Amino acid sequence: MRPLIRSTITSAAFAAALLFALGACAQVPAYTEPSIAPDTGIAPAPLPQIVSQDGKHALLVDGKPFLILGMQANNSSNYPAMLPDVWAGVEDLGANTLQMPIAWEQVEPVEGEFDFSFLDTLVAEARERNVRLVLLWYGTWKNTSPGYVPSWVKLDNARFPRMVTAEGETHYVLSPNAESTFEADKRAFLEMMQHLKAIDPGHTVIMIQVQNESGSYRLVRDHSETAEAAFNGPVPDALLSRLGKPPGTWRDVFGPDADEYFQAWSVASYIGRMADAGREILDLPMYANAALRDPIDPQEPGSYASGGPTHNVIDIWKAAAPALDLLAPDIYIRESRKYTAALDHYDRADNPLFVAETGNNADTPRFFFSTLGKGGIGFSPFGLDYTGYSNYPLGAKLMSPEAIEPFAANYALVSGAASEWARLAYESGIWGVARPDDDSAQLLNLGDWTANIQYNEWQFGFSEWTWLASDPIDKEGRSNAGALIARIDGDTFLVTGRNVRVSFGIDGKTEGTNFIYDKVEEVRFENGEWKFVRLWNGDQVDYGLNLTDKPVTLRVSLATY
Ligand code: DGJ
Repeated sequence: MRPLIRSTITSAAFAAALLFALGACAQVPAYTEPSIAPDTGIAPAPLPQIVSQDGKHALLVDGKPFLILGMQANNSSNYPAMLPDVWAGVEDLGANTLQMPIAWEQVEPVEGEFDFSFLDTLVAEARERNVRLVLLWYGTWKNTSPGYVPSWVKLDNARFPRMVTAEGETHYVLSPNAESTFEADKRAFLEMMQHLKAIDPGHTVIMIQVQNESGSYRLVRDHSETAEAAFNGPVPDALLSRLGKPPGTWRDVFGPDADEYFQAWSVASYIGRMADAGREILDLPMYANAALRDPIDPQEPGSYASGGPTHNVIDIWKAAAPALDLLAPDIYIRESRKYTAALDHYDRADNPLFVAETGNNADTPRFFFSTLGKGGIGFSPFGLDYTGYSNYPLGAKLMSPEAIEPFAANYALVSGAASEWARLAYESGIWGVARPDDDSAQLLNLGDWTANIQYNEWQFGFSEWTWLASDPIDKEGRSNAGALIARIDGDTFLVTGRNVRVSFGIDGKTEGTNFIYDKVEEVRFENGEWKFVRLWNGDQVDYGLNLTDKPVTLRVSLATY
C-alpha cells in the first residue's frame, strides 16, 4: 500500500489513519468533521485511501469504509451533452460511484493547451448528485491502442514511436520504452491531477485508473532499439528481490517467459511512474485494469494483452509499480467457474479486489455476491448509460432500465448500509457466493459454523420430498442468485441475498448436531444502526432462511443446546 506519510491531510483523521497503518488499532480511523475551505466554499474531506490488514482491505472515503457500487460509462460518454443520459443510468442502477473516462485527446488537443471544462462539469454534477467518481485516464493505452491520444501524438511516429516487431516492422501499440511518449503523457496527466486538486477539495473523485487495459496483442514485447538494450541487460534488482531470483539478463533469469515478463515490466514501470508523479500532486488511490488472460486454461501471450496486468504477471507489476494500490480485473466472463477463478487471482493480501469492469448482460449481476464475499472493495458493470450504445454480444443487447434492474436490485440489498458491510468485511469477516452455472449447493466455512447455500428451492419444505407434489421451480427468473454473509461478532451474522436458501449449521449439517438458531431478526439500517423489524421463526426458519426477490437483511444469532 501507499505509505500514508505522503498524504497531505494534517487533521486528526490523518493521525488516526497513521496509527492505524502502523497496526496500532484494528479498526478504521475515526471520522473527523472537516472545516470549510475558504477558497472554494467546498468542505474539504480527508483523502480517500486504501488500507490493508491481515489480508483484508478497505477503501476509506470521508474517513469511513466505502463500498463502490459502481457503474462505468461507455467509452464516448465523456462529454457534457451525454451526462443527462449517464446520470439516468446511475440513478436507475442506484450506483454510488461513476467511472468516467478523461481522454488525453480531449484535454490537450493542441500541445501545451489544456481544457478541463468537461472535468469541471462532471465533478460539479456528481457533487450535486452525491455520486463519487473514479476517473479513467485514457492516454497512451486504451485497450492497448493509442486511440485516445491527441492527433499530434497519434500522427508523429518519429517522436512517439510504436512498438517494433523482431523483424523490424512497426506494430500498432505505442512503445512503453519511449521516454518522449512517457513525458508527454505524464505532463497531461499531471495537469489533470493539478486541476483536480484545485477544484475537488471534498474528493468527489475517489480513485484514478491510470491508462486502460494496457499491453499488446499479437506481439509479446517491444523490439525497439531501447527495448533490445534493456532486454539484453540485467533484470532490475527490485524484481529479482521480489521473486528471489539470482541476477542475469531477462533471458537468463526467466527463460521462455522472458519476453512477456520484460513487456510487463516496461508497461508497469511506465504506468507506475505516472501514478507516482500524479500522487505527488494529489495522493488519491490509483490502479491499473487488466484485459484478462483466461483464468484457467493456458493461453499464449499475444493472444491476450501481453504485458498488461494479467494474473500471471501480478508480481512483476507489484515490483515495477508500487505507486498503484491495486490491479483490477475487467471480467466479461459469463461462466461461473472462470469468473470465480478470475476473482481469486486478483484477491490477494497485496492486492485489494476491485472488479473495475464487468459485463452488463443478465448472466453477470449474480457475481456481485461473490465479489463482495471475497472482500471486494467494489463492483462496476460497464456501459449502463443510455447514450445509445450496447456492447452486445459482450454485454446486453439493449441498454434499458430492464437490463439495469437485476444489478440495481443487488445494489439495493446493501446500499443503505454499504459502509457497514465494508467495515465488517475489513474488521470482521465476509463470505459470499454467486449461483454456480449448475445450480449446485455451496458450503461456506464460517469458523465454528457453516452456511449451506442452495438454489431452486421453494420457500417451504425440501425439493427431495416426494410425499408433497410441487410444480418445478421456474429457473428463468432465478438466475440472479447468491448470498452474502458478514460476521457482526462472535456467533452473530448479517445475511442478505437473492433467490437463495441459506442454512446455517455445524459441519454443513443443521440436523444431527446440537445446532439451533437463537434468533433470526429481520433488520433495517437506519441512522447508522440496525433497527429491528421482526423475528423470523416457524416456517420462515424451519427450511433454512429463504431469500427471494424481496430485499431482506437478517441478523442471525447462532447457538448450540
Ligand atoms: C473493456 C474496455 O476496458 C472498455 O473500455 C470497453 O472497450 C469494453 N472492453 C468493451 O465494451
